[in-house]
Amino acid sequence: MVALTDMADYQVEDGVAVITIDNPPVNALSQGVRLTGPQSAAQQYFFFAERQAAKIPDIPRDTAEREINKVGVIGAGTMGGGIAMNMVNVGIPVTIVETSQDALDRGLGVIRKNYQNTASKGRISQQDVERRCGLITGSLELSDLADCDLIIEAVFENMDVKKEIFTRLDSIAKAGAILASNTSALNLNEIAAATSRPQDVIGLHFFSPANVMKLLEVVRGEKTAKDVIKTSMSFAKRIRKTAVLVGVCPGFVGNRMLFTRQAQAQQLILEGPLPHQVDKVIYDFGLPMGPFQMSDLAGLDIGWNKETSKGETIRDRLCELDRRGQKTGAGYYDYDEKRKPTPSPVVEEIIHEFATQAGMGSREISDEEILQRCIYPMINEGAKILQEGLAIRASDIDVVWVYGYGWPLYRGGPMHYANSIGLDKVVAALRQYQQQTGDEFWQPCKLLVELAEQGVGFS
Ligand SMILES: NC(=O)c1ccc[n+]([C@@H]2O[C@H](COP(=O)([O-])OP(=O)(O)OC[C@H]3O[C@@H](n4cnc5c(N)ncnc54)[C@H](O)[C@@H]3O)[C@@H](O)[C@H]2O)c1
Repeated sequence: MVALTDMADYQVEDGVAVITIDNPPVNALSQGVRLTGPQSAAQQYFFFAERQAAKIPDIPRDTAEREINKVGVIGAGTMGGGIAMNMVNVGIPVTIVETSQDALDRGLGVIRKNYQNTASKGRISQQDVERRCGLITGSLELSDLADCDLIIEAVFENMDVKKEIFTRLDSIAKAGAILASNTSALNLNEIAAATSRPQDVIGLHFFSPANVMKLLEVVRGEKTAKDVIKTSMSFAKRIRKTAVLVGVCPGFVGNRMLFTRQAQAQQLILEGPLPHQVDKVIYDFGLPMGPFQMSDLAGLDIGWNKETSKGETIRDRLCELDRRGQKTGAGYYDYDEKRKPTPSPVVEEIIHEFATQAGMGSREISDEEILQRCIYPMINEGAKILQEGLAIRASDIDVVWVYGYGWPLYRGGPMHYANSIGLDKVVAALRQYQQQTGDEFWQPCKLLVELAEQGVGFS
């Protein structure tokens, strides 16, 4: 029971308590209490958004699902290990395949260490550690995946490597097995076309750390069968994830929107603010970290090649100096042994060089402008995604951002946030930046303009 006396401000209307409170007790919503205030509204909105995401309009409820009793994971790196943990946490046996004994031992060692850490905090027993590790079989042979019902590929983000694996899987996997890729941005249709069974191929895009983050982007290829989608959505629930169905495009929903924010963040540091100033604005807005902290955490060398690097971007220059992020003790920030970041004079100097080369004069940029320039392009990209039919509903995009990137729940997600500002204001700001810069990047998309003109929101 929610005790009304605990609430700061309430009144009774038609026998219903209307409470103005910004952080409602979790159980309040289910107890017939109406809560008001923008943060409460956002949380209520999200409560329903999450449930909506499970509904796929063109897949009949009675579509039979495939059985999944055994899973194969290819690659025991950062993602493969975390993905495997999701399975064994709920008692599903997993076979992990690697290319060398060293890589396999390293991957299995990380999994055991993670469980051991959890056990040392008393959250699972030593028996649980042994039982979970005992459900994992390591292998160096892809052919050991022949009896798996679901195979998830999590190797390097390289199209040729992935295609080769899927071609081989085509001749190894049993009939009816679901073949999934954890690619973050590659064209799933091209991967599926490497097999003779594209109907069985789907994207299962886990977020890092894969054993922790709640989101699973389920990527529907142009030929993915409906029962494969239905099975994947249910399977997500079984491994305690929240699934959102998305279509094929570079970066799918989450990363495609993220790319626009990263592009603006890079532009901003050429114009005056330093990485820590941009990060602070995003952090103060409520995200767990800003764009530069995020890059340092992920590693600046994702997609960077030492052999071909020509120092053409700030990122290239940092990687060339072995400032490849937290893992090397330096990236956009310097890190101490406890990974505490401090702004770096070296980075400031490099940014200054690039800004001078680009003929940019440093200017004072307000926090409000930083925020708008990081967030509004994401809203515009979200609208394009809806316009192109690559997400079913705006609220699905919000679920991606809350569960995949830590968007603050009390702001509902980027699309809900846009509704709360007013789409006309977002369009006006985009047009103003477009006018100032002459850059097409800022062009508001058709759907966003139409909704703004109609005076409605995304819902
Ligand atoms: N790291 C992230 O934050 C993240 C998030 C979401 C998705 N992803 C995607 O997940 C995939 C894996 O990324 P990662 O960060 O785990 O990479 P990683 O480099 O940590 O691990 C890749 C592993 O695959 C192994 N491998 C390579 N070729 C192989 C083959 N033919 N057979 C078996 N194993 C092979 C490598 O030895 C390595 O251990 C990529 O497609 C990436 O885009 C990464």
